[in-house]
Amino acid sequence: MNDPRTRLIAALDVADRKAALAAVDRLSGHVGCFKIGLELFTREGPRLVEEIRDRGEKIFLDLKLHDIPNTVAGAVRSVCMLGVDMVTVHASGGAAMLEAACREARSSGSSPLVLAVTALTSLSERDMGRFGIGGSIEEWVERLAWTACNAGIRGLVASAKEISMLRGKMDPNLQLVIPGIRPAGSDAQDQARTATPYEAMRAGANYLVVGRPILKADDPAAAADSIAGEIARALRESSLRNP
Ligand code: C5P
Repeated sequence: MNDPRTRLIAALDVADRKAALAAVDRLSGHVGCFKIGLELFTREGPRLVEEIRDRGEKIFLDLKLHDIPNTVAGAVRSVCMLGVDMVTVHASGGAAMLEAACREARSSGSSPLVLAVTALTSLSERDMGRFGIGGSIEEWVERLAWTACNAGIRGLVASAKEISMLRGKMDPNLQLVIPGIRPAGSDAQDQARTATPYEAMRAGANYLVVGRPILKADDPAAAADSIAGEIARALRESSLRNP
């Protein structure tokens, strides 16, 4: 876990198997895990998940499940058969749904880490008003986090902006997986609540999810290495402060 690359998850947001395997070939050994999301899974299905897993890579299946408890339980059961390391459900699916997801994951042989997505990193404070949710995004994330943790969830997806609140209030063993990562000077694109790799790690992230800043770089492996360098610097400084 001290190798900074183990903290870096590359989002395989590409169109098809050919592009995904090319990215895996380029990035293998430079990142700790590959995230397969909706675009790739919808196109290529479970077979590609198994193919990348069988190359010895860790897999985060980011399906962001959000349905009634019985349906999500069935989906998590199917996910567990794929032998992935992490899977996402939406925290806003509610306590019963989250409990059902945790129960299925626990009872499977592969026991993936079920991560609850709090507020998408593309949402801003203005969206809270539009949804009729009173208070700030941070307050909304906190309410979702308590719901998730009380239901047995041991990992959350949130933005870097909420890490210090979560670290201050929740179980210190809670795994925080942080997307919306942008190295200094890069374009935020559709992300609203962003931070640099260094900032997110210093704030207390366990894992960073990075898509376009790696995949769209001229040299994706060099981009991943540079992010791993920032992660290493943050981990070093954090351990100096809290030996
Ligand atoms: O390209 P970029 O680095 O913005 O990609 C971020 C990845 O993290 C995407 O695959 C997106 O689906 C995922 N994600 C996110 N915000 C969340 C949860 C997941 O951006 N709250």
